[in-house]
Amino acid sequence: MKSASRMAALAGLFVVVVSAQAAQDDAMLALATKSGCMTCHHIESGGKGPDGLAPIGPNWQDVAKKYQGKAGAEKQLVHTVMTGSNPYQSHWKGKVSGLAMPPNEVAITEADATRLVKWILGLKS
Ligand code: HEC
Repeated sequence: MKSASRMAALAGLFVVVVSAQAAQDDAMLALATKSGCMTCHHIESGGKGPDGLAPIGPNWQDVAKKYQGKAGAEKQLVHTVMTGSNPYQSHWKGKVSGLAMPPNEVAITEADATRLVKWILGLKS
């Protein structure tokens, strides 16, 4: 292969990878919006909650950072998303304005929650 066509092939591969990631981001954001997550969460830091207070829930890039490399994080977070968090054992005390996350099992299936948590844990700041 001549180097110009090799470059073109590599560039094409890059575009496919990047657009597959973008399509995945769009699909996950649509799922999160449909499931009501985005009323309390932002993806990136810096978003404000109602009345300019701290956001209600942690931004998802911070969630990815906090649980990076922790064994069992995915399973534990799916459980928290489905059944809600414990207000007496807040993981984000002082960082968010919400006291606890309510159970989301009325709004999302466990399979979809697992897809979302996998995606959240892979987010880069
Ligand atoms: C009514 C507001 C609200 C909604 C709706 C909501 N969350 Fe949360 N979420 C919170 C709050 C508040 C926390 C912080 C809990 C804590 O301090 O332990 C949180 C924490 C989290 C965490 C981190 C949990 C931990 O233990 O560190 C994840 C992951 C998460 N939410 C995902 C989701 C997903 C996915 C959805 C949608 C299916 C969702 N949230 C819907 C308010 C909400």
